[in-house]
Amino acid sequence: MIALAATSPTTPALPLLDPARLDRPDTLIRLEPFPFLAAHGQLPESARADFDRDFPKYSGAGFFPYNEKECGPSIRTLVETMASPAFANAVGGKLGIANLGQFPTMVSICRHLSKRHGTIHTDSKCTVATGLVYFNTEWRDTGGGCLRFLAKIDDIDATVAPEVQPVYGEFVLFKRADNSFHGFLPAEGERRVIKVAWLTSEEEKLRKTRRGNATRFFKRLAGGLDRLYGAHRDRSAAHRN
Ligand SMILES: [Fe+2]
Repeated sequence: MIALAATSPTTPALPLLDPARLDRPDTLIRLEPFPFLAAHGQLPESARADFDRDFPKYSGAGFFPYNEKECGPSIRTLVETMASPAFANAVGGKLGIANLGQFPTMVSICRHLSKRHGTIHTDSKCTVATGLVYFNTEWRDTGGGCLRFLAKIDDIDATVAPEVQPVYGEFVLFKRADNSFHGFLPAEGERRVIKVAWLTSEEEKLRKTRRGNATRFFKRLAGGLDRLYGAHRDRSAAHRN
């Protein structure tokens, strides 16, 4: 067992993430049309309240670069585990990615969504693989805000697997490829997710970190514009990384 343990005295010391939990019959692993996996129940119930308390409280919508000062201890421990080489190697191996843990990681966190988010894309060429873990207590429905892996860049309904609701303990990992199309139908409101991107080089990490910090301030101001834009978004809209 490689994962770090929860330390709350009121909860059993279960690991917050553990690749062994992927070994359940409903874990979906596909290598075509691109390598991805989707798994339920990857976070312990005993840590739910700690994560709720410790999740960063951003005022803007979208992903923000991880800053440990904005997170409580359980989230910091989870990020440390998820970004560790041991975890990366274990989960990457499920998709045939050798030694994923050798690559630098970039962690970002989203608490709120606007209707602008979720347009179809592949992730950028400097990404080797992307992992996402979700935290919402519940999700109102299927459809809006549920992650879809897709066969095409221009059709949000061309799903290649069941969509993933952004609820507590759902975990996905996919290998970035020129056809790793993914996205979701528009939604807005709270949608809590932590993303780890394994990147091709430290230079790309530096470049992305600078860009993420530069857009942080703008995102706090942009909520009104996002709502305006998102309200008119085409359901199969795409963006290039
Ligand atoms: Fe993406």
